[in-house]
Amino acid sequence: MTAALRLRPTMLSDLDWVVSLERDGANLPFITPWERPQHEGAIRFPDSRHFIVEEGDELARIGFVILQGCRNPNGSVELKRLVMQAKGRGLGRAVVRQLKAMAFTQLKAHRFWLDVKALNTRAFSLYQSEGFVEEGRLRESVRVAIDGADGYDSLIVMSLLDREYRARTALGLEGG
Ligand SMILES: CC(C)(COP(=O)(O)OP(=O)(O)OC[C@H]1O[C@@H](n2cnc3c(N)ncnc32)[C@H](O)[C@@H]1OP(=O)(O)O)[C@@H](O)C(=O)NCCC(=O)NCCS
Repeated sequence: MTAALRLRPTMLSDLDWVVSLERDGANLPFITPWERPQHEGAIRFPDSRHFIVEEGDELARIGFVILQGCRNPNGSVELKRLVMQAKGRGLGRAVVRQLKAMAFTQLKAHRFWLDVKALNTRAFSLYQSEGFVEEGRLRESVRVAIDGADGYDSLIVMSLLDREYRARTALGLEGG
């Protein structure tokens, strides 16, 4: 199943779909959606990579990814955004594995990092089980106003270092 996943650069013609996926109620609580010009910037700016995740022979769009810091002088590459349309099928995990390989092999990252909202237990468990280590919490740093509730959530900063990735690879934890 995972072999049928492919990452390809996002095109401007994909952005209506990307923006609508961000604003879908299944994703909105977990991300901070961008305006279309921000996505256009991420496509054009050399420090960023914007990808569509495709699946199957029909190459149907099933998600998108944004990396930032790809030219960071400290080798600190950020997984800025990951959104999968079909959830709970193991596809997010497969994409995270591809992104780790890209960050450490192609982009020569020293540190691959991200932040995730504390309420996003699904994404947190995924990142944790893929070797990302919690660095700390930015307490009550994002406003949460959903379903009539109004409050704050914390952001959990997580990272994986190149030597930790190599150790996981040696142990066969990064798949084939
Ligand atoms: C987070 C996201 C990318 C994960 O992709 P996915 O394809 O749904 O995830 P997977 O099917 O690969 O599941 C990965 C793991 O998540 C965990 N998980 C899944 N559902 C969960 C839930 N409801 N609660 C806690 N953990 C959960 C499990 O550990 C699962 O692995 P396992 O079933 O092998 O044990 C996707 O759900 C998504 O797009 N969510 C909305 C946007 C978002 O949160 N993006 C990340 C922002 S940091």
